[in-house]
Amino acid sequence: MTYSAVPDRYETLPYRRTGSSGLVLPAVSFGLWQKFGTDYAYETQREIILHAFDLGISHFDNADRYGPPHRAAQETFGRVLTTDLAPYRDELILSTKAGNPIGPSPYLTGGSRKSILTSLDHSLRDLGTDYVDIFYHHSPDVQTPLEESVGALVSAVQQGKALYVGISNYLPDRAHAAAELLREAGVPLLIHQTRYSIYDRRPEQNGLLETADQDGFGVIVYSPLAQGLLTDKYLDAIPDGARAQNSTFLSPEVIDDTYRRRTTELNKLAESRGQSLAQLALQWVLRRGEVTSALIGASSTAQLDHNLQALTFPPLTDEELALIDEHGVHGTGLKL
Ligand SMILES: NC(=O)c1ccc[n+]([C@@H]2O[C@H](COP(=O)([O-])OP(=O)(O)OC[C@H]3O[C@@H](n4cnc5c(N)ncnc54)[C@H](OP(=O)(O)O)[C@@H]3O)[C@@H](O)[C@H]2O)c1
Repeated sequence: MTYSAVPDRYETLPYRRTGSSGLVLPAVSFGLWQKFGTDYAYETQREIILHAFDLGISHFDNADRYGPPHRAAQETFGRVLTTDLAPYRDELILSTKAGNPIGPSPYLTGGSRKSILTSLDHSLRDLGTDYVDIFYHHSPDVQTPLEESVGALVSAVQQGKALYVGISNYLPDRAHAAAELLREAGVPLLIHQTRYSIYDRRPEQNGLLETADQDGFGVIVYSPLAQGLLTDKYLDAIPDGARAQNSTFLSPEVIDDTYRRRTTELNKLAESRGQSLAQLALQWVLRRGEVTSALIGASSTAQLDHNLQALTFPPLTDEELALIDEHGVHGTGLKL
């Protein structure tokens, strides 16, 4: 059926400025890391992507690595772009990333100019677009001079293949050094993509959020629901089809008694606020002004609807934040 976006799609979801740039992003963005490869039904994937856009989520995050197999999630998005979203391309912020391994070749991994720019060309073909809005180096590569990786990002912009550049998973010192190099090259660092949630406190512990503030780049936080651990879904058992059952990135072993005890307490707190734990967890990451957007995944349109309601609740009080600190212990359920 021909898709037509709902007219009031910009009326509810707030947009937030990305660092000191001119670009605003939706407070919640959508990523295609899991369940957008060839192992799931295309019609469901399409429905979720289009529903996200109808809810005001204009930013879709991808990477050459996402699948399975690698690159398949970009092909899925490219198919939806061609059939449904092409008329809205100007309203979309598409991102992709290069540098995490996607094959045995030394040119399909790392931070060399060869790897980064080759990956970008493949991604543009997969996505079926001439440019991406944000192009990231996916992970730091200490074997490659930072100048080389950063230089490749600058070239992507100069070649018209990316509008903005980002980095992901860089520690604060390296992020600061990258920001300086990019500033000197006239291509300011737009954004840093990092994991952050009630169960992963590293960005606030290692100073990344302060570095972002000082250097003027935005922060988009991935896995704000700790891949689903910060919902009520695993409190009793692992439901059929859940990520802990079918993904190599979330082991069922992390769902132990300690996890259940802490998550039960957080769930009680959420209930006392009249919301779900997923909604509380999203509100929690967005309480920080340095955070531009919470980058979520979803395996159904119902999850999207539910999660976006997070933005309708009153802010967390100091007392509630203290309770979250007590039960939301860093490292719970995560391989750090
Ligand atoms: N830069 C990087 O290195 C990096 C690394 C990881 C991710 N990312 C990006 O971040 C994006 C989001 O990561 P993520 O998927 O881990 O984020 P997440 O939002 O923490 O987890 C999403 C998953 O939680 C479950 N879920 C969501 N809402 C739920 C609800 N209301 N009730 C119950 N379960 C719910 C769903 O899994 P199930 O229903 O399948 O159980 C969903 O796929 C990725 O797609 C990718 O774009 C980047």
